[in-house]
Amino acid sequence: MNDMPAVPAIRRSATLEGLGVGIIMDGNGRWAQARGLPRLEGHRRGMEALRRCVRSAPGLGVRYLTLYSFSVENWTRPLDEVNDLMGLLKLYLRRDLHELNQNGVRVKIIGERTGLPRGIAELLDEAEATTRGNDKLDLVLAFNYGGRQEITRAMRRLAHQVAAGTLAPEAINLEQIDAALDTAGIPDPELIIRTSGEQRLSNFLLWQAAYAEFVFLPVLWPDFDETTFAAALAEFRGRSRRFGGRDEGASPIKAAR
Ligand code: IPE
Ligand code: IPE
Ligand code: MG
Repeated sequence: MNDMPAVPAIRRSATLEGLGVGIIMDGNGRWAQARGLPRLEGHRRGMEALRRCVRSAPGLGVRYLTLYSFSVENWTRPLDEVNDLMGLLKLYLRRDLHELNQNGVRVKIIGERTGLPRGIAELLDEAEATTRGNDKLDLVLAFNYGGRQEITRAMRRLAHQVAAGTLAPEAINLEQIDAALDTAGIPDPELIIRTSGEQRLSNFLLWQAAYAEFVFLPVLWPDFDETTFAAALAEFRGRSRRFGGRDEGASPIKAAR
């Protein structure tokens, strides 16, 4: 009876060291529209919500925070909106990098780095380099990001290693794939929150979300605050996670709290 397939291990969970949370920050446009304001104003207020979110995360027990800030599909928006979103990211990093560093935040950017407008790629490199040694909160910004594109890049990296003779095809396993993704070294999110009432992933963390819990909130992203964040975490903590096993009180979440 030794020919049972090996059970693939669930990827390392961050629960014991602090929670991993991914957020799809959605609803800026509708927030502005409801007030008769330009979409840019919604995005500006969205940036303020992002700051609140990052500032409150450590106090709420969050150790890894992944924020979806620009998807590869967002390039299909009108050019002035795309430019506004790029400009806001620059503004955020320029204005907050010092504070992030002071607060022990390590910044990591996931997504396609090539093809970004001048000045952005350098700023992303600078943010990562400046904060590299910090360990209070890992802030992962998904920028120019798509889950399928990330998996494609990872497959290409592995294929290069196979072609170079440094990796045997049989040696490719879950860990190898994890290590080839942009998120290498970052535990999978245990919870994914999406604001604005939409209930979809929109190409966010497809591989990493395998066993994530989902909380969909009706609140529009510019209105997101610490109270909303705490409520989403409370809902998550009340969930029973089984990871394909049986619910016999062995939930890693409950055991850790
Ligand atoms: C989220 O708000 C910001 C980004 C996607 C970059 P939206 O701009 O998608 O707002 P809605 O969904 O149109 O309300
Ligand atoms: C997802 O929101 C992307 C980000 C939050 C950056 P979208 O507003 O782009 O997603 P769809 O178009 O509603 O799926
Ligand atoms: Mg949207």
